[in-house]
Amino acid sequence: MKAMVVGSSGMLGLELLKLLGDSGSGYDLPDFDVTDRKCVSDAVAALRPDVILNTSALTDVDYCEENPDEAEKVHHKGVLNLADTGVRLITVSTDQVFTRSVGNRYILESDPAEPVNVYAASKLRGEKAALEISGNTVVRTSWLFGDRGLLPWIISSLVNKGVVTAVTDQTSCITSAGSLAEILVGMASDESSSGLFHCVNHGAVTPYELACTVRDRIKTGVVKATSWGKLALAAPRPVWSALGTERDTELPPLEEVLDQCLQKML
Ligand SMILES: NC(=O)c1ccc[n+]([C@@H]2O[C@H](COP(=O)([O-])OP(=O)(O)OC[C@H]3O[C@@H](n4cnc5c(N)ncnc54)[C@H](OP(=O)(O)O)[C@@H]3O)[C@@H](O)[C@H]2O)c1
Repeated sequence: MKAMVVGSSGMLGLELLKLLGDSGSGYDLPDFDVTDRKCVSDAVAALRPDVILNTSALTDVDYCEENPDEAEKVHHKGVLNLADTGVRLITVSTDQVFTRSVGNRYILESDPAEPVNVYAASKLRGEKAALEISGNTVVRTSWLFGDRGLLPWIISSLVNKGVVTAVTDQTSCITSAGSLAEILVGMASDESSSGLFHCVNHGAVTPYELACTVRDRIKTGVVKATSWGKLALAAPRPVWSALGTERDTELPPLEEVLDQCLQKML
């Protein structure tokens, strides 16, 4: 299998390249721009990949809120450019296509989307563009961490600064980019993995609850509460976007990845 990884300098892209080894080729700014149709078709013609794994995105949701045209170009037009090459496409999307609880349960693939902000609305249009072609795959995930991201930030803040301030008004599933990359590589070599998937490490938490769990484990530091409401940033955040799945793609539970991250960092 020859895989083209788009957004390959990002957190998830790097994990994919690590797993794919010689079968993965990375593409990212500034040499490769997913919004440039000719650049995309030239790169695909030169590489002739069996599958494209698209992780490119503008993940700063506040920036997207203030720059909706850029968000639309990367998340919708970019996905269209990739889908139009005719190569099987696996593209990554977000839990933020949901805003609130559907009866205090995990949100499933069949639940109707309700994008919470500009970032998510543009990602949802990208999802639709990908899924218009049969055989393509959309994977929604949530609050990724690798060597950086929410969980390492909580651990290093508690250990190095003795304090972390985390929000109480967003419940979702924190997901390890490494464990998601393993699922994506599996999908890349299995053409029957098409359609829409929710892929997260299960265990719905607020960042505040996660920080308290970490503090209780490492017995150091103080956790302070805040809220998105108080921070008054540009983009609204979902109150509840904990993803569940109706497909057979279970990732390890949050407990397990929390243990791995603590072992690695402490
Ligand atoms: N991070 C999360 O918490 C999270 C949660 C849910 C879903 N997701 C989704 O998961 C995927 C991977 O996220 P991530 O955390 O790995 O993101 P990331 O670290 O921000 O990486 C995204 C990469 O895409 C690149 N990119 C941006 N615009 C591009 C363009 N026009 N052409 C080519 N590449 C471009 C970025 O380059 P620059 O850095 O130069 O802009 C960056 O290297 C994304 O689809 C994201 O929407 C992420």
